[in-house]
Amino acid sequence: MSMEGCKARTGGTGVASSECMRHAVVTGASSGIGEALARELVGAGWAVTLVARRRERLEAIAAELGPAARVVAVDLCAIKDLRAWVASLGQPIDLLVNNAGAVAVGRFVDIDPADARHVLDLDLIVPLALCRAVLPAMLARGAGTIVNVASTGALGPSPGMVDYCAAKAGLGAASEALRGELRGTAVHVVTAYPGPTDTPMLRTATAGYPDARAVRSLPSGTPAALARRIRRAVDRRRARVIYPRVYTLFRYFPAIARRLLDRFTPPPLPASAGSDRR
Ligand SMILES: NC(=O)c1ccc[n+]([C@@H]2O[C@H](COP(=O)([O-])OP(=O)(O)OC[C@H]3O[C@@H](n4cnc5c(N)ncnc54)[C@H](OP(=O)(O)O)[C@@H]3O)[C@@H](O)[C@H]2O)c1
Repeated sequence: MSMEGCKARTGGTGVASSECMRHAVVTGASSGIGEALARELVGAGWAVTLVARRRERLEAIAAELGPAARVVAVDLCAIKDLRAWVASLGQPIDLLVNNAGAVAVGRFVDIDPADARHVLDLDLIVPLALCRAVLPAMLARGAGTIVNVASTGALGPSPGMVDYCAAKAGLGAASEALRGELRGTAVHVVTAYPGPTDTPMLRTATAGYPDARAVRSLPSGTPAALARRIRRAVDRRRARVIYPRVYTLFRYFPAIARRLLDRFTPPPLPASAGSDRR
């Protein structure tokens, strides 16, 4: 970006280097996929706002990443007006990554309704509200990208994760529809469908099944490799990322995926074993 561009973005006042870089907001940046994305984006020259609840974790990551990273410690579910919150971030947002998420694993009838509601709120309602909050400015500026981190559970919903899959299927559907709606504008939407990826959430989910061997034997990936693919999809304006690639089966052969999931997913434990609501 030129110096003139920098001045325009900062109202003519700021020339601090991070204000002249493209700015990404990554939710859920204190661990797992969000942390890997923050690292990937800073490595690719972005300024990144790291959002999550655990301030000390965010600050430790930001300290490693240097001046291009800043921390906003907040519970996204506790924000009454996400539009005002986005405005309070100050800098224009070139990239929003809706990544923060929670899971509840167990028999549907056993899951605490409060856990179910929390999953639907954090994994579906909050990301949609954040899309609504950032879009007007992106459309007005004629630039911007939104990444929605759904799940392969949106394409092939797993027994034992009913509310989670409902939330992720909702987010995936909304994200794909929004991409279509925004065709012809300068704003691009990427939908990410991660399969099992080695993070704290995967460990929580695995703990929700008694026969964890079956779950552990599924093809899985790493947060760093997924983050690289998402960053490339942003740069190349791709529609979606399905990772590991074997799960593209879910997209193209949903009936086969359904049969495999129903037959081979082990019955879940009671819900208390597999919820990560704090
Ligand atoms: N790992 C997988 O196998 C997998 C597969 C498919 C999809 N995904 C999706 O990928 C995304 C990232 O998951 P992950 O595997 O990286 O899990 P993770 O390591 O548990 O990370 C979840 C992130 O969300 C943040 N978060 C949770 N509740 C929040 C809240 N109320 N407000 C703000 N931030 C909140 C957490 O930070 P704090 O606790 O500090 O708030 C953390 O940074 C999720 O949307 C998940 O559904 C993961």
